[in-house]
Amino acid sequence: MENELSKLNIPRDTYLKLVEKYVSEESRKHLFYTEAAMRALARYFSEDEHTWAMAGLLHDIDYEQITGKENWEAHIKEHCGELTEKFLKEIDFPDDLIRAIQSHNEVQNIPRDSKLAKTLFAVDGLTGFIVAVSKIMPDKQISSVKVESVIKRFKEKRFAAAVNREHIFTCETELGIPKEKFVEIVLGAMGNV
Ligand SMILES: [Fe+2]
Ligand SMILES: [Fe+2]
Repeated sequence: MENELSKLNIPRDTYLKLVEKYVSEESRKHLFYTEAAMRALARYFSEDEHTWAMAGLLHDIDYEQITGKENWEAHIKEHCGELTEKFLKEIDFPDDLIRAIQSHNEVQNIPRDSKLAKTLFAVDGLTGFIVAVSKIMPDKQISSVKVESVIKRFKEKRFAAAVNREHIFTCETELGIPKEKFVEIVLGAMGNV
């Protein structure tokens, strides 16, 4: 089942301030990439671009405020939990969109019952994966990464092993986009960040 979600009217600046409050400069890049990818995918699906982009921008807002990755079990349990809700309520983020964001961490057991939630889940790992591919390019630029090289690297288990390919491949099973097309859209969006 897919639910219609609230539409955001608050400008990006307000959300960016929240990011600046809780996320260090070096970790913001992942948020900006995810924002750009979500905006491009909203356009592809004819959904609300601003709402999707802001969900991408804020999806890991709690990441540096919870237990660090040195205690992975605690980290993954806390990610997308109470603090995400608390921070997003500071800027009056609607409840349904908070839940959609929280659902990208499977551990929270929140159903991904909207197209936005499904897209965020599939896109999250892919942005990290594409960054990993860019790092092995001679010039280390996202714009030098080709769709085919991303697809090829998916099959290499030891490459960016932390990224769960199955999550990315839900673009096919949950969203009906072939992975080549999905990578093309996300890659194009990330190249403009
Ligand atoms: Fe996350
Ligand atoms: Fe993320």
